Amino acid sequence: MYYDFARPRKGWSRSGAWGGGTAHSPVSMWERGTAPGRGFAVCTMLILAHRGASKYAPENTLPAFRKAIELEVDGVELDIQLTKDKVPVVLHSDKLTELTTTYLFAHATPLRALKTIDAGSPFSPAFAGERIPALDEVLALLAGHARAHPSFCINLELKAQPYWHFGMEDRVVAVVRAHRLAGQILFSSFSPLVLWRLKRLAPEIPRALLIEPRAFFFLRMSFFGTIATITNLHPFHETTTPDLVRQARQRGWKIICWTVNTRTEISRAVALGVDGIITDDPVLAREVMEQTTNAV
Ligand code: G3P
Ligand code: CA
Repeated sequence: MYYDFARPRKGWSRSGAWGGGTAHSPVSMWERGTAPGRGFAVCTMLILAHRGASKYAPENTLPAFRKAIELEVDGVELDIQLTKDKVPVVLHSDKLTELTTTYLFAHATPLRALKTIDAGSPFSPAFAGERIPALDEVLALLAGHARAHPSFCINLELKAQPYWHFGMEDRVVAVVRAHRLAGQILFSSFSPLVLWRLKRLAPEIPRALLIEPRAFFFLRMSFFGTIATITNLHPFHETTTPDLVRQARQRGWKIICWTVNTRTEISRAVALGVDGIITDDPVLAREVMEQTTNAV
């Protein structure tokens, strides 16, 4: 086996593999070299755990991030909403119907009230009483591991809405800076406006435009990508084609697709040569990558 999830190999650095670290230098997904008696290739596609290790613990909660660390993933992806009292919290949807029968919106609810919601029981009774964490709590949990693993990537997706989330970017950047984690953050958003604001606030932190298949897809991608001077393109995996990968490379963008979950989808991402995947199943992703590596 030539692929190790977390251990950087001699002569090889993951810096720059996701647009962050010390450089934005192009990093090939394949590291080639020789082993005694044979050639070998190591697949270096990054594996980011979607909403933490959400297959094993309630998504976007502290146990999901602890589990991701335990699995030695290359990084995590998480979603950010803003509470009524303007605290960034780690939560997928503004509408809280996935977690509670009460008709609530995160943007209209103060943190103290959000903290009364049981974010664990809908996943499993074993996680009953788990709370929606503030971004501050999640970064505090990840900071030690991130510092010990300088290539660890923390992908913060800002779920900003233009009206009620005004000011989210400033607050998120302040929390990131308070934890001194700027070098390990990768911002992403479906909103080019949010990315543009992030660029003004923290130009040193890489920014990814999330894209879905929509009308004028290529036009939107190049127009908004240029305005927000993105470093990364994060397309839906079915939208990711050899042509899209080529276009992203031509523009100097890293390409990380989502949400890549099945064996077929993971193998396809490897074959496309993307820089990384966001997945609910990092264990399967690692297994498929190891098999691919050994098959070369
Ligand atoms: O960041 C990629 C992916 O997470 C975007 O979709 O709905 O899972 O946040 P969603
Ligand atoms: Ca997300």
